[in-house]
Amino acid sequence: MKKTIGRKAKKMWDGRFEGGMSQSMKELSFSLETDKELLEEDIIGSLAHGKGLAEAKILSEQEYAKIAKNLRGILADVKKGKSLWNAEDEDIHMAVERVLTERIGAVGKKIHTGRSRNDQVATDFKLYMRRKAVDVLDSLSKLQSALLTLAKEKSNIVMAGYTHLQQAQPILFSHYLMSLFFALERDRKRLLAFLETHNESPLGSGAIAGSAFPYNRKKVAQELGFANASANSIDAVSHRDTALEFLSDLAIIGATVSRYAEDFVIWSSTEFGFLTLSDGFSSGSSMMPQKKNPDSMELIRGKAGRLLGNYTTMFALVKGAPLSYSRDLQEDKQPVFDSAKTILVCLQVFREALVSAAWNAEKMQEKMTAALLATDFADMLVGNGVAFRDAHHIVGNLVGAAAKLKIDWTNLPDEYWKIVPPRVRELRKKLTFAYSISRRNIEGGTGEKSLKEQFKKAELILKGTSR
Ligand code: ARG
Repeated sequence: MKKTIGRKAKKMWDGRFEGGMSQSMKELSFSLETDKELLEEDIIGSLAHGKGLAEAKILSEQEYAKIAKNLRGILADVKKGKSLWNAEDEDIHMAVERVLTERIGAVGKKIHTGRSRNDQVATDFKLYMRRKAVDVLDSLSKLQSALLTLAKEKSNIVMAGYTHLQQAQPILFSHYLMSLFFALERDRKRLLAFLETHNESPLGSGAIAGSAFPYNRKKVAQELGFANASANSIDAVSHRDTALEFLSDLAIIGATVSRYAEDFVIWSSTEFGFLTLSDGFSSGSSMMPQKKNPDSMELIRGKAGRLLGNYTTMFALVKGAPLSYSRDLQEDKQPVFDSAKTILVCLQVFREALVSAAWNAEKMQEKMTAALLATDFADMLVGNGVAFRDAHHIVGNLVGAAAKLKIDWTNLPDEYWKIVPPRVRELRKKLTFAYSISRRNIEGGTGEKSLKEQFKKAELILKGTSR
């Protein structure tokens, strides 16, 4: 007994331990390589915690001043490229405390007063996700802005709109581009809601029961930029739905851009030829000299799978973890760091690839078939008193007959048009792609006026005045 009590501490928690940790266990358990990503948040968190302790007279002003100066010094040193960590550092939180204590002696050990790594990690992690959410929001806005500019520039290009990857109806290419703008706006709203919801600081919750050193938790929370202190210490240290929601929001953004990336892969094929990505966003083949592949878009599509994987990893982690903290929860960092990094690079590449691509308006036009106008002719019949179902049937007959003859339905010989009431027959000559588009100025439609309205809405969104 005596021997243990007199022994010098090797680890910050080894007071009750006699034997050291096995090498294999260290490999399983040490997380510094991953969680050093949290350095900045850890320092910010400790500064606020120390300030709270000083205001409550738990630390003296001089002690806090010394701690704060050296915490800032550690951050500055790492930013300068100094390597401060060693193989015995379990995680970034222990590493910072060790270096602090080495630099200022015993007073450094006081920073952990009334704190557990449980509330410390939960706080750092939440701060990190909030910071990254803001970065992603910014990236989404930049992409939206690039889309709006491109859509305005290309607003006279007409193309086939597709459903089931079959030609459906004529659309303006810009209408297509703006569809992504508004999808991204929902992605943004989800992140804004995330910031609103996850706005409470766990600090002061201790390991599970709340710190026994009463300090002003709300003040410390606000010092950190949170709106409030968390209401329940058990919930504060154990919940990971913050990470779950963050990963879900990022995975959804990944899915949004992935669908467009898929279209662009298809469109850049020889068969479509609507689009040529710039060299900076394509790759060649190591074997086939003629190849220029849309790798940027394929990778973005692939990364969407990875983002979903990170989300499901987190779900599996939390679904059975007992309250409050269990060590499984240490595995929460890697998916979050990975998803944040992944989505940011995807959004940047997607935007840069989009603005540097060449869009081939002639090809888009060339590929449009008369089939795109079938609905408009049915609508013309309706306008002349034919019930829509009957109109649909008549036009279906014409299109079917033309398919058999392997010609455009608008070129069918006169005898085929006898099934159309005479007063409407001649109207078919009015059918053009431009006519079709001009009939769709309903709110949200592809007509030119409607598109201008979309531009206006988008401008308000970008100015931040529509929220
Ligand atoms: N590295 C750990 C994590 O990130 C720190 C928390 C350890 N807490 C504990 N009670 N062992 O989850």
